[in-house]
Amino acid sequence: MKTSAIADIHLITFSPTGTSRKIGIAIAQGTGIETIAIDDLTQDCEATLTFHTRQLVVITVPVYGGHVAPTALQRMKSLQGNNTPAVLVAVYGNRHYEQALEELHTFVSGQGFRVIAAGAFIGEHSYSTPETPIAAGRPDSSDLLCANRFGSEIGKKLSASSSPAEIDVKDVALPTHPQEAIMQFKQTVMGWMKQGIQMPSVPLVDTNLCNNCATCSLICPTSAIPTCDPTETDAQACIKCCACVKGCPTGARSFPTPFAPLLVQQFSARQENHTLV
Ligand SMILES: Cc1cc2nc3c(=O)[nH]c(=O)nc-3n(C[C@H](O)[C@H](O)[C@H](O)COP(=O)(O)O)c2cc1C
Ligand code: SF4
Ligand code: SF4
Repeated sequence: MKTSAIADIHLITFSPTGTSRKIGIAIAQGTGIETIAIDDLTQDCEATLTFHTRQLVVITVPVYGGHVAPTALQRMKSLQGNNTPAVLVAVYGNRHYEQALEELHTFVSGQGFRVIAAGAFIGEHSYSTPETPIAAGRPDSSDLLCANRFGSEIGKKLSASSSPAEIDVKDVALPTHPQEAIMQFKQTVMGWMKQGIQMPSVPLVDTNLCNNCATCSLICPTSAIPTCDPTETDAQACIKCCACVKGCPTGARSFPTPFAPLLVQQFSARQENHTLV
C-alpha cells in the first residue's frame, strides 16, 4: 500500500483538555497524507463511523486510572473498520499508561482495524494547576516534533508495503519512574482507602468568582453542568476530566484532589514519548 493508496486520514479523538487532540493532529500532519478529517468524540457522537481499507485511522485518547478513559471507549463503539490500518496513541499525565494501550488494541481489533503503529505520549495532567504542576505545558514543541516524526515514519511504512505489518502494543516502551516512587504512590493511595478518605466527586465552584458565562457548561463532555445554573454539577455525569476547571475564564472552578500534590511528589521527573512503527 503506497502512501498515495491511502485516500485520507481520520483522526479519532476524545480530548476534554485538548492534549490528545493536539498530539493526534501533529501525528496526522507528519504522515504527509494531505486529506485529514477530525472526528472529535469529546462532545458525543451519535453517528456510526465506517472506514474502508484505503483510509488510515489515528486514535488518540487520554489515560484515566491506567485505562482508556471509559467515555472514549463508550463513544468509539460507533467506529467500524474494514481491515482498516490504525495508529493507537495513549496520552497520559506523566505517571503511567498501564493497561490503556493493550485495552485499546483489543477494542479496535474487535471493530475491524489492523494496528500498524502505536505510541504513548505525555500531556499536561488534567489535575495540574500552577500550584501543583504535573507535566505542565505538555505537549510542548519537542513533543509535537516527536509526534510529527512519528507520523512521518508511519507515512514511510505505508509507502513501503501494500500490506504494512501489524505491531504488538506490548512492545511500546514503559515510563521510567523508579520502583520506589511507584511503591510510595500505591502505598499512599491504599492508606487513603483504608482511612476512608473521600475524593472530590465534582469540581468546586467559587460563586463569588462565577459570572454565569456558561463556558463550562458548553465545554463539559458529559453535559454535567446545567446552562441555567453553571454553579451546579451533576456528580453522576461528571467524569472529573477538569475541562471546566481549565476552561473557566475567571478561575471559579477547581478540583482540589489530594492526587495532585502526590503526583507532583512522586512523578515529576519528565517522561519522554515512546512510539512503535
Ligand atoms: C480521572 C483521571 C484519571 C487520570 N489517570 C491518569 C493515569 O492513570 N496516569 C496518568 O499518567 N495520567 C492520568 N490522567 C491524566 C491524563 O491522562 C492526561 O492529563 C491527559 O493528557 C488528558 O488528556 P486530554 O487533554 O486529551 O483530556 C488522568 C486524568 C483524569 C482526569
Ligand atoms: S466558566 Fe466559570 S465563570 Fe463561567 S459559568 Fe462556568 S464557573 Fe462560572
Ligand atoms: S463537570 Fe466534570 S465532566 Fe464536566 S467538564 Fe467539569 S470535570 Fe469534566
